[in-house]
Amino acid sequence: MLEDNWTGTSTVPSRNLYPHQWSWDSAFIAIGLRHVSPLRAQTELETLLNAQWGDGRVPHIVFNPSVPLDAYFPSPDFWRSSTAGRAAGAPRTVQTSGIVQPPVHALAAWLVHEADPGLSRARGFLARVYPRLAAWHRYLLHRRDLGGGGLVSVVHPWEQGMDNSPCWDLPLSRVAPAPARSFRRADLAHGAPGDRPTDLDYGRYVRLAADYRDGGYRDRPGGGHGAGAGAFAVEDPAFNALLIASEHALARIARELGAAGTARHARARRLTAALVRRLWDPAAGMFLCRDVRGGRLIRERGVCGLVPLLLPALPREIAAALVRTACGPHFGLGGAVRLVPSHDLLSPAFDRHRYWRGPAWFNVNWLLERGLRLHGRPGPAAALRRAVLDTADSSGFAEYVDPYTGEPRGAAGFGWTAALALDLLHDRPARDGNGVQRTEGGDRG
Ligand code: SER
Repeated sequence: MLEDNWTGTSTVPSRNLYPHQWSWDSAFIAIGLRHVSPLRAQTELETLLNAQWGDGRVPHIVFNPSVPLDAYFPSPDFWRSSTAGRAAGAPRTVQTSGIVQPPVHALAAWLVHEADPGLSRARGFLARVYPRLAAWHRYLLHRRDLGGGGLVSVVHPWEQGMDNSPCWDLPLSRVAPAPARSFRRADLAHGAPGDRPTDLDYGRYVRLAADYRDGGYRDRPGGGHGAGAGAFAVEDPAFNALLIASEHALARIARELGAAGTARHARARRLTAALVRRLWDPAAGMFLCRDVRGGRLIRERGVCGLVPLLLPALPREIAAALVRTACGPHFGLGGAVRLVPSHDLLSPAFDRHRYWRGPAWFNVNWLLERGLRLHGRPGPAAALRRAVLDTADSSGFAEYVDPYTGEPRGAAGFGWTAALALDLLHDRPARDGNGVQRTEGGDRG
């Protein structure tokens, strides 16, 4: 299946629904590919990073010029990266989107290196990707601190990756949707409408992306209290947690290259403290999203609020509370569900079939399995690992599944589902069972 989705330089998430290269998909796919072809895994990340913009941003889509324009919306003629993005340093030779996705890349690069350090050193893999990854993190930390509190804001739901999460309903409600007749969705040709975001959501996605494009993809950081924020700006716990995990990985990459990683580990710990300060909600027992424009936490419980379990410097009592919340009635781990849902089972907004409003996703469950191991919960981690493997297989490597039944939803033969199942199949105790500790936690040097 990963073979079928390979284009020669990268892997498409799905042949029909997503026929180009996606940023965080490629990172997760590389994490699985490293077990079968470390060379392809390195190439996957290098192809993506070759499309990086001059300001450091890594675009969320890199378009394949041989795919017809109408195969995916919004297509390159919507984003117009090489003209509208010129001031921000968009590449001239490749067309991309102008927004970003969660920064899983440094974590992926480190894991890919670890799978075959000999090949990695011989090809100078880390030496080539390190400056690009460092520039990517710099872009996020300097250009995207729209709330002025030290965390990164996303400016579009597609950036956070959980497109139609109920967490965005409140901030999105301020966005005037683009008229339905002004664009044509391509996703409904391949996905059931009940599994996908609504037309109203799409109208708002289009408006936000068009406004960002028309402003030359410029960011306006540094206002404090949301002064730099456009119509939509959210500090999200998952996006920031993935940045922090990647910052720890970048520290290890620096050390492998003979530089000191200490400053990066220290920065990762400072970011963890900022995450707790700005997004931890003790009453909910989880992290919440902050609506930067409204200056408030958003009360919806999205699974994004459990993802910081991935972080080694998380205070012990917060890690314990996250595990309790994951296993409680809102997320049902080890109880009501087969896999952890994308949204609160008890929320009126929960919808077990509609994309990120309830279905269970494999990347999220992979991250939670890692977090459970890191924080000393081998029992629940092993059970979750088994459930991910069984459900990936029984669903035909679905894009997402009904969290209660495991019934497949969305696209079949989905790239990161196959890749992350492959990763979990590998003997974790031998490969990195302690390595979660050793790699991102135990060694802070
Ligand atoms: N996930 C979005 C889509 O559905 C874009 O990144 O097309």
